[in-house]
Amino acid sequence: MTTPAQPASAPSLLSDLLLLQFRRGDNESNNQQLYRLMRDGILQEILPPGLRLPSSRQLADELGVARNTVLHAYERLAAEGYVSAGVGRGTFVLDTRPDRLHGQPAATPSPARATTSLVSRRGHELVSQAGAGQRQWGAFMPGVPEIRTFPARTWMRLQNRQWRKPQPELLTYSVGPGLPALRQQLADYLRSSRGVRCTPEQIIITNGAHAALQLIALLLGDPGDKAWVEEPGYWGVHSVWRSAGLDTVPVPVDDEGLQVDAGSGEARLIFVSPSHQYPLGAVMSLARRRRLLAHARRHGSWVVEDDYDSEFRYGRPPLPSLQGLDQHGRVIYLATFSKVMYPGLRLAYMVVPESLVHSFQTGLSELYRGGQYLTQAVLADFIAEGHFVAHIRRMRQLYAQRRQVLLHAIRLHFGDSLPIHDGSAGLHLVLGLPPGSDDLAVSHAAQQAGVLTRPLSQYYRAGQPQPGLLLGYAHVDEADIPRHFAVLAGVIRQHCVPPAQG
Ligand SMILES: Cc1ncc(COP(=O)(O)O)c(C=O)c1O
Repeated sequence: MTTPAQPASAPSLLSDLLLLQFRRGDNESNNQQLYRLMRDGILQEILPPGLRLPSSRQLADELGVARNTVLHAYERLAAEGYVSAGVGRGTFVLDTRPDRLHGQPAATPSPARATTSLVSRRGHELVSQAGAGQRQWGAFMPGVPEIRTFPARTWMRLQNRQWRKPQPELLTYSVGPGLPALRQQLADYLRSSRGVRCTPEQIIITNGAHAALQLIALLLGDPGDKAWVEEPGYWGVHSVWRSAGLDTVPVPVDDEGLQVDAGSGEARLIFVSPSHQYPLGAVMSLARRRRLLAHARRHGSWVVEDDYDSEFRYGRPPLPSLQGLDQHGRVIYLATFSKVMYPGLRLAYMVVPESLVHSFQTGLSELYRGGQYLTQAVLADFIAEGHFVAHIRRMRQLYAQRRQVLLHAIRLHFGDSLPIHDGSAGLHLVLGLPPGSDDLAVSHAAQQAGVLTRPLSQYYRAGQPQPGLLLGYAHVDEADIPRHFAVLAGVIRQHCVPPAQG
């Protein structure tokens, strides 16, 4: 940065700029405002390189502000490289234009090019096909647990205990795949409640399920490898795996879960939600589980078992995990704390086969570095002291009641004329709409009327989508469910060929 030999002196430029825009007594302090106006003037070249600024005393008089205010602005501009100031030499705008060295005007990209080249093709695909909803609270947003009754006092007590004298290992860069105490608690819990066979070493803790899915894709798949995903299925796996370069292949599901024989091509990865198929709710039959495991073994595929909400089952107990049935180490078990605790916690975990432990531990710390060890310590205490299981039990009862209230409201308005898919489990159900209905239009109109739903057709990537609506009930007060459903029923009647009352 140099000062031209013959700097221009044009205090009027500065005065014009400042007198026009400077507002004394505004919310922004005088110091900050003066600095910002001058900085912007320099960046926009209204105050060109080489311009000599008036003395601080002169400018302070013109603006009617304290001289210190001007001195403060000049000093800050000098410290940040906008102006040069030397005792007795005056203060000059420095030449910091990016094209100065090349002696050519800065290239202005054409608007078309600027927008198309902002993101990569992969980025464009990810963004244009994004699946996450913009609203995550309100009747009947699916996938949201009841968080208002979370035992906050207990959590705070356990948290305070950890923070009272935090161990340095919990606050420094974390090494390894998660806090050993939490992994030990999880191994015990999974063995007894989900039939997962594992040691604590096989557990890898991640920031949410998406980080786990990404790590799986990056460590086990190469760009272009095929990955089977359920159809209809969870949008998140599609987004994460495609952005990691995998070729996701939708494979239809039926009442027994993934139709293994309908899958095409050699799959490197296979994603399933066998305990409660997302979103339709089927429980994968034992025969289908065995077929899937045999297929994975024969073709060298890795099966990812997403066990996202199986704690909430309102009839018979859940089938033990697919992982527990696997004799050949082909299954990666994936679960999240989002549904059993609260989504903002952003903690999930995988149980990986022993053969993958080293790669996943190293991959995790290399890519994400892990973290939140103090929160993990609080969670380990929460489980060890029995609060976790008690919370799940309470929520299961609450969600079972809310599910009944919603089912009752559906029957009241539509009898048995609309199919309901839910597998008696989870935080949501799917209300089928009459064939030919436009579920996107219904969902949009319902949102305008204040009721959130997600259209079932959005969970299909290929083939013929069935129309329907996902309705989350877990976080909606029983007393409010009938009222919200009545609004939705009105919208459905307006938009769909009326179903015959059963
Ligand atoms: C089927 C399924 N799997 C996984 C997840 C992701 O969980 P997380 O909150 O850890 O990202 C969700 C979240 O809604 C889900 O619906």
